[in-house]
Amino acid sequence: MFSSSTLVYSLSLFLSISLFFFIFLLSSSNHNLISTADDLDDLSLFHRASVSSNNNYRRLISLSSSPPPPSKIAFLFLTNSDLTFLPLWESFFQGHRDLYNVYIHADPTTSSSSISPLLDSSINAKLIPAKRTARASPTLISAERRLLANAILDDPNNLYFALISQHCIPLHSFSYIHNHLFPSAAAAANSDQSFIEILSDEPFLEKRYIARGEDAMLPEIRYQDFRVGSQFFVLAKRHALMVIRERKLWRKFKLPCLDVESCYPEEHYFPTLLSLQDPKGCSHFTLTRVNWTGSVGGHPHTYGASEVSPQLIHSLRRSNSSLDYFFARKFSSESLQPLMEIADAVIFRD
Ligand SMILES: *[C@@H]1O[C@H](CO)[C@@H](O)[C@H](O)[C@H]1NC(C)=O
Ligand SMILES: *[C@@H]1O[C@H](CO)[C@@H](O)[C@H](O)[C@H]1NC(C)=O
Repeated sequence: MFSSSTLVYSLSLFLSISLFFFIFLLSSSNHNLISTADDLDDLSLFHRASVSSNNNYRRLISLSSSPPPPSKIAFLFLTNSDLTFLPLWESFFQGHRDLYNVYIHADPTTSSSSISPLLDSSINAKLIPAKRTARASPTLISAERRLLANAILDDPNNLYFALISQHCIPLHSFSYIHNHLFPSAAAAANSDQSFIEILSDEPFLEKRYIARGEDAMLPEIRYQDFRVGSQFFVLAKRHALMVIRERKLWRKFKLPCLDVESCYPEEHYFPTLLSLQDPKGCSHFTLTRVNWTGSVGGHPHTYGASEVSPQLIHSLRRSNSSLDYFFARKFSSESLQPLMEIADAVIFRD
């Protein structure tokens, strides 16, 4: 006779074996792919953020009260390790609590010992729900859109959104950056311009365009509309909303890269989208200085401790555009000490 406990036993054995294979299949699937569940999750977040900004909460309070609400900058940190330059950023933000927010998207593999100093620090960072990210995959686009959506939802006074990495440092004081993003009404001709690099004449562009297959981007994205730019942008709120509401280009950009050596989706999605939808509203240059001279393996020059000097900061600030550079990367962790030594006298003096 077949006892019921044997039945339960075999049934649970069967279930656990199936579950094991299911998990095995999930974990062995290509990390470069965005799962439908993650995509739907993001869609619902983007939708909530988009709707919240339609409520025009900020305009209502600015009409009914004086003084007007503060114009804030949201700093979006994308990281999979600690924030090496945390002490420098703490000095940068000090005294400006009402004019900024900091949001962190930390890859789920990031150790809690890396994250907790950030959360305990004086910069009041908020950790947002994060998902796995990997180089040469559309996961970085998702992470950046997730940061934008969370910042829009969290505080209607966030009007500019600056993407920063763990290797970035500020080149100016907070006041300098805030004053240049929010000039006085008289000087505000371009006040809600976005600062994002948009280039169309790079020699590698064609290889990047076909990295998902010969005609993979068609018909949504024609080659002549395909753009490239630095991953690091400062977006005005109207463009941040444009980015989280966008679905047409995303359908193509979320496809996995076949040629991972020439893909870098995050360097194309944002410039291509903004150049199609509002080219005149964008600076076409980035505010984050990177030194590509003598780059190795796709990584820019990393400044060591011995290279840090007041002259270096001054030369990194200088640009060919109408604005000085605000931020720079990359810096080695050993350069923190010499940077701290010149922070007040050089970096934050402007
Ligand atoms: C850029 O990096 C190179 C080394 O790869 C260095 O010689 C040069 O001085 C750097 N440029 C600036 C402006 O720091
Ligand atoms: C500015 O333009 C000059 C001439 O094209 C170039 O040599 C220089 O590297 C540019 N400087 C920066 C900071 O991009």
